[in-house]
Amino acid sequence: MDKLIITGGVSLDGEIRISGAKNAALPILIATLLVDGPVTIRNIPQLHDVTTTMELLGGMGVDLLVHECMSIEVDSRPIKHFFAPYDLVKTMRASVLVLGPLLGRHGKATVSLPGGCAIGVRPIDQHLKGMEAFGAKIDMQNGYIEAKVDGRLKGAEVTTDMVTVTGTENILMAAVLAEGRSVIKNAAREPEVCDLANFLNAMGAKISGIGTDTLTVDGVDRLHGGEYVVMPDRIEAGTYLAAGAITRGRVKVKNVAPQNMTAVLEKFSEVGAKITSGSDWVELDMRNSQPNAVDICTSPYPGFPTDMQAQFLALNCVANGTSSVVETIFENRFMHAQELQRLGANIVLQGNTATIIGKPMLIGAPVMATDLRASASLVLAGLMSQGQTIVDRIYHIDRGYECIEEKLSQLGARILRVPGK
Ligand code: EPU
Repeated sequence: MDKLIITGGVSLDGEIRISGAKNAALPILIATLLVDGPVTIRNIPQLHDVTTTMELLGGMGVDLLVHECMSIEVDSRPIKHFFAPYDLVKTMRASVLVLGPLLGRHGKATVSLPGGCAIGVRPIDQHLKGMEAFGAKIDMQNGYIEAKVDGRLKGAEVTTDMVTVTGTENILMAAVLAEGRSVIKNAAREPEVCDLANFLNAMGAKISGIGTDTLTVDGVDRLHGGEYVVMPDRIEAGTYLAAGAITRGRVKVKNVAPQNMTAVLEKFSEVGAKITSGSDWVELDMRNSQPNAVDICTSPYPGFPTDMQAQFLALNCVANGTSSVVETIFENRFMHAQELQRLGANIVLQGNTATIIGKPMLIGAPVMATDLRASASLVLAGLMSQGQTIVDRIYHIDRGYECIEEKLSQLGARILRVPGK
């Protein structure tokens, strides 16, 4: 297993280009299952999860062609199997997103149940509730969801019990080719959900209310091929800005959509960083001052994203003052806290709240990555630790951060990938 070796204490200074958003690229790639024709998707990030998605679609018989600069041409017309195997679903939960499009276009799907996860239980009951509301029959057999419908799905009103990102996406994709009108209430408003809806509309779907908590979908008979550019990754951008703040440096991220990052940028200002932005860039300047501790409470968009919680927890470890970080989305998303403590961080965990007493610097140690964002927080902490920090199990990072060591090196970090045996 590869490791990252970080020698901390360098203030980052420079600019980098942000990749396409993982959590938009995955559903959009999967949504090509609904399209009756070739689709070219651009600004796809080079990530393990994208490779897994291609493996998933390829296994169904879908044609995929990777062009230069990570644009992918997908033609789902040759599909032969309507199946998502356990091996792929267990490595990438987003695989369950094939359920809605397969049911909507082909009337059948066999999808492995995802099982447990490092950050919480993460059930998919709301996805299934949506499919059933549209007339699908769902059975569970040998760890698999067997879903089918006679003829077409029928549009209906669905209200999810909680705000769920992939739940909204799955239900939305099922609704696009359903007969008549569907209304999805309590829909997730995350920019990645909007990007998926915009992609579907660009292929001929009729979705309105995009960006609100009520999506109305008028079913169409078919979607046509076309081209689409995936939105920038707001979490990747936020992570590099956090690296700038933690190391008391200056970082400019390019190819971003600052309007999608308001809650995070406000927190950076509260930390004491100077934030400037243009239409597609943001610069954070924290040179020569220790960040101030900030309280964080995660919530669905437009609130503070759970996917930035670990990075801000790391930031608070080297901030001036005491802070609390409350996680309201996932019940077990504090695995990084114990690892940060190995670097000397002062964190007390109680239920869904972490209380952090900041200190100027941490001390390098070997640590272990447990999930994607937790791993990112360990890398950030390593950048502000005396001596060497070795982050093990970084395959988690490669799922969601394109060339993290190259981008950080470009900003001046001393970071090295060591291939594992
Ligand atoms: N939930 C249910 N039942 C459901 C669906 C969700 O109880 O049927 C619960 C979950 O257990 C959780 C809450 O609802 O407590 C919200 O979960 P959500 O469904 O919104 O999460 P997700 O769709 O599985 C996506 C992202 C996550 C991100 C969350 C929250 C993708 C592929 N994944 O997950 O991204 O943290 O939304 O914003 O879009 C990451 O990128 O590191 C990551 C984990």
